[in-house]
Amino acid sequence: MSISHKFCIAPMMQCTDIHDRFLFRLITKKALLYTEMVTTGAIIHGRCYEQLKFNNDIEHPVAVQLGGSDPHELAECAKICGSLGYDEINLNIGCPSERVQKGSFGACLMQDPELVKDCIVSMQEVTTTPVTVKCRIGVNDRDDIDFLNNFVSKILTPSLKTLIVHARVAILKGLTPRQNRQIPPLKYDNVYQLKDEFPDLEIVINGGIKNIDESLDHLKIVDGVMLGRSPYDNPMIVNNVDSKIFHEVDIGLDRKSILKAYLKYCLEQIENGYPLSRTLKHIFGLNRGLKNAKAYRSLILETMQKNNLKATQDDLIALV
Ligand SMILES: Cc1cc2nc3c(=O)[nH]c(=O)nc-3n(C[C@H](O)[C@H](O)[C@H](O)COP(=O)(O)O)c2cc1C
Repeated sequence: MSISHKFCIAPMMQCTDIHDRFLFRLITKKALLYTEMVTTGAIIHGRCYEQLKFNNDIEHPVAVQLGGSDPHELAECAKICGSLGYDEINLNIGCPSERVQKGSFGACLMQDPELVKDCIVSMQEVTTTPVTVKCRIGVNDRDDIDFLNNFVSKILTPSLKTLIVHARVAILKGLTPRQNRQIPPLKYDNVYQLKDEFPDLEIVINGGIKNIDESLDHLKIVDGVMLGRSPYDNPMIVNNVDSKIFHEVDIGLDRKSILKAYLKYCLEQIENGYPLSRTLKHIFGLNRGLKNAKAYRSLILETMQKNNLKATQDDLIALV
């Protein structure tokens, strides 16, 4: 069964781990969730299966994101991820970090579309799970539509149905990954024009989208939206995604009920070996913008430092 890309929550290292995805599943059942990027090296040499764990009962639809550039290694990882039951395997061609460039993957691969195509073909050969790509609109000074069209025309294979495009160039030298998400200007028009050029390709737009209303505007032109920082910083903005984007009934839990359920989960996770520092960090923004937000954030921090949730959970719940 094919999954919908109408509303996606972006892959984010240190953020969209299994716990964060648990939180999002208390708020929306329909948004497509992405894991953090997992590198082929971590899977094959580091045997980091821990990073590939997901909660099969509640997380679907869920996509794993892989980072790598060796078609054989990517195929090996795609096979593992396919057998684990992910709904999609996404290849990261958008990350500009120096570390990633040293491994010759991420955004620098936009300069080698033939290799990207080899990677996609190799991955898709070994699994029936759909393989997708996440890229930028270009690299360095190539922020023109010709570069993007040329890249896409060269990576196209019949199996590639979906492309996620972060609407900024990646500057490969001189900017940190964080600056690379802020300084290059957003060029949504390039992504819109790409949809025009490749109408049969499902195009998901990413970068700087703040809320559902902006998402609905983009959805008039492209097939899907992907949001990263805004839902991570303020998870409640996705509480009406299921109704507004998918025309289904929202889960409808209020903020307090979500927090109660998540804190219960955090306590359970201690038994599973996940300290509070790993789980509580995802809920700093749960009452963002509300009057107790500051006191709530301080108490989360204090709880993490003292490593004692039982002592503060009632006060936390009272603050939202
Ligand atoms: C902390 C952080 C970690 C990120 N890690 C990844 C990653 O692992 N893979 C990836 O493709 N993009 C990663 N990104 C980029 C996001 O997926 C997204 O493309 C970018 O933040 C722009 O979308 P936004 O403006 O909605 O946040 C990361 C972004 C942030 C803020």
